[in-house]
Formats: sequence, structure tokens, C-alpha cells
Amino acid sequence: MSQLNNDGRSSVSFILNGNPVTGYAEPRMLLTDFLREEMGLTEIHVGCEHGVCGACTIRMDGLPARACLTFAIQAEGHRIDTVQSLAQPSGVLSDLQLAFRKHHALQCGYCTPGILMSSSAFLEINHDPSEEEVRDMLSGHLCRCTGYVGMVRAILEVARNRISA
Ligand code: FES
Ligand code: FES
Repeated sequence: MSQLNNDGRSSVSFILNGNPVTGYAEPRMLLTDFLREEMGLTEIHVGCEHGVCGACTIRMDGLPARACLTFAIQAEGHRIDTVQSLAQPSGVLSDLQLAFRKHHALQCGYCTPGILMSSSAFLEINHDPSEEEVRDMLSGHLCRCTGYVGMVRAILEVARNRISA
């Protein structure tokens, strides 16, 4: 349970990418700022800061969530996963990351961590998605570089490969 310090900040404890962490946040501090500034996770990208672009998407207890619409103290007691959670500790990339690389599904990469988090959650509940379903999922993310075609190909290929594995 979080506790208020005499400097007005609360302690926040949660599971971050599989490891227990504790930090301190003012009540109005956003989870984006907390993860970047207190936890040093610069893979948390901030675009619009009001829930539209999807760049800041993390997974909270497995579900995609906008970190820019979440207060840091709301993470208390939860499991938070960022794009770091996808690769193995040895650095071996996940099948989804490899497929994004193969299909040139990223250019500048600003949108990519958030899209990977939504896509990873999506594929866990929809094992055999149609192209339309993939595009519908991706509609929650803005990418100014790629045109999305590579992402769609990558996600469909991962789904196909997992089914045939
Ligand atoms: S920065 Fe969070 S949705 Fe755009
Ligand atoms: S790869 Fe540049 S915004 Fe998506």
C-alpha cells in the first residue's frame, strides 16, 4: 500500500517487467513521467499526452493501457510490462519483434514500443486474426512513417506461425 512522505510524494510499489520496484511519485505524476524519469525507461515514448497516439502504451496486468492517462500511483500493486518484457533476458528478440524487423514495420520507431505492446496483447486473445481485425487493433495507434502495411504483414505472419508451431 502506498504511503505519503513528508515531501508530499507517495511510495509506489509494483512489478515492472517481472521485477519488484518501488519509487516515489507526487499524486498527480503521470505513469509516463514516472517510468521515464524515476525508472529510467526511455522506451516509454510520449506523443500526444492525451490518449490518442498510443505511443505510451504499456501493459497493465496484461492489458494494454495508455501510460499518459494513468497516474503513477495507480500502478501500486499491479504488474506493468513495457516493450523490454518481450525479448528474453539474453536479448533474443521475440517472434513479434523479429517479424517487425523482417517486414520493415518500423522506420523512426517512435510508435513502435506502444504498437508492440498492443499487438502482443492482441495476439494472446486473438490467435487467428483477420487482416481487418489487425487493422482495427492498429487503429488505436498513430504511425507517421510506415503506412502500417509492414505491421499488418508482421502480425499476421506471427499468428500463422504460432498456429502451425
Ligand atoms: S502519449 Fe499517450 S496516447 Fe499519446
Ligand atoms: S515508425 Fe515512425 S511513427 Fe511509426
